[in-house]
Amino acid sequence: MTEMQSGRSCLAVILAAGEGTRMKSQRPKVLHEVAGRSLLGHAIATVTAAGADAVAVVIGPDRPDVAAEVAARLPSARVFVQTERRGTAHAVLAAREALLDGYDDVLVAFADTPLVRPETFQAMRSALAAGAPVAVLGFEAADPTGYGRLVSRDGVLEAIVEHEDASEADRAIRLCNAGLMALEGRHALAILDAIGNAGAQGEYYLTDAVAVARAQGLKAVALDAPESEVQGVNDRVQLAAAEAEFQRRRRIAVMRDGATLIAPETVFFSHDTIIGRDVLIEPNVVFGAGVSVADGAVIHAFSHLEGAEVGPQASVGPYGRLRPGAKLARKAKVGNFVEVKAAEIGEGAKVSHLTYIGDASVGAQANIGAGTITCNYDGFFKYRTTIGAGAFVGSNSSLVAPVTIGEGAYVGSGSVVTRDVPADGLAIARGRQVEREGWAKTFRESAMARKQNTAKSKD
Ligand code: UD1
Ligand code: CA
Repeated sequence: MTEMQSGRSCLAVILAAGEGTRMKSQRPKVLHEVAGRSLLGHAIATVTAAGADAVAVVIGPDRPDVAAEVAARLPSARVFVQTERRGTAHAVLAAREALLDGYDDVLVAFADTPLVRPETFQAMRSALAAGAPVAVLGFEAADPTGYGRLVSRDGVLEAIVEHEDASEADRAIRLCNAGLMALEGRHALAILDAIGNAGAQGEYYLTDAVAVARAQGLKAVALDAPESEVQGVNDRVQLAAAEAEFQRRRRIAVMRDGATLIAPETVFFSHDTIIGRDVLIEPNVVFGAGVSVADGAVIHAFSHLEGAEVGPQASVGPYGRLRPGAKLARKAKVGNFVEVKAAEIGEGAKVSHLTYIGDASVGAQANIGAGTITCNYDGFFKYRTTIGAGAFVGSNSSLVAPVTIGEGAYVGSGSVVTRDVPADGLAIARGRQVEREGWAKTFRESAMARKQNTAKSKD
């Protein structure tokens, strides 16, 4: 928060009663996701980061799913239902009870506009603190069709005119209304209540707040944001555009924070990914929710991580897959075609090739050979495998859980281990090898002879 906002209380009203018909989805629009978080979740996170002390979310009728998302993201948020969809001002008024609590600043945000930066809301609050009771966010639209226009005279914001109500002259204005607004709390209800049924479709437009404030002798100001920040999501093409913008920003932030991305445009982050310094991320890596990567780690190409912790100087991939609960300690190595789920891989331990480690713990410096599988599931329950520090599991072994391989123990290659192996012991659990001298030669000769006889009888 800037100096000027300190001490000012703030209510954010998030409008989320959208129909979202253009998404052509069973899901309400505001529950569609960008970087693994709902559009609504983004709006809630942004206003919270902008210093909102209280958040009110206005949802449509019969939307327990949207209400549940609010509760999950911010339990303290209040949910209001807009029973009839009668425009953005009508929607804000659905939160009248919250407005009556009396805040210095009231922010109005749209749940379908997920890319607004907290700094932008803070700038709008600064405008209120500087003495303007209404602050509106504008942007230069590449194509202004459909947007409300910000009409100014002599540098003073006079009104916002909706596209369908706009004159030819007003339609030539490129500065458009982003929709977001900041109102001084002590004027907010008076302004909202005064907004008449002025729009073309018999709705109560929040945008009329500017003209109403002007009529009440109150000043309104317009702030400017890049179009990329205020782009709304109305269909899935715009959803993908919002995702692309989010990823573009996050890649830049990660690189500025000291990570190297060889091909940034091929790396995809979740909204909550944490990447340390001197991390190297090779091309084509996807981060699902809940991943942190500590300093100096390397994520090789084509890896997929989700709900995982990668320790300092650890490495993953190429083609590594970390699923929820994977936890790699310092310098642990998870190599190619290895899947790790709900398992700790100890310091310096190596799981280098073609392996599944699930519901397990692997001790420090242990070495897990290629093709090792923890058999953790019997179709009903999951069981744990414990591998001690410094253990050596030979290639192509199946460890049938629950089972413990003691510290420093060896497991012979190709074993199916069903009983615990003592520390420093050896388990070999496979068919014993037999050798028969000359067997192959004899076999070849008799087989060859048979084949020739069959060929002759066919002639
Ligand atoms: C709105 C602005 C327009 C601006 C544009 C930018 C108004 C009247 N118009 O138009 O000036 O250029 O955004 O994208 O504000 N909502 C409700 N209840 C309602 C109506 C809307 O909750 O009764 C919510 C919607 O879910 C959405 C937001 O308010 O999150 C904006 O409504 P929408 O209908 O998308 O407005 P636009 O036509 O895009
Ligand atoms: Ca919209």
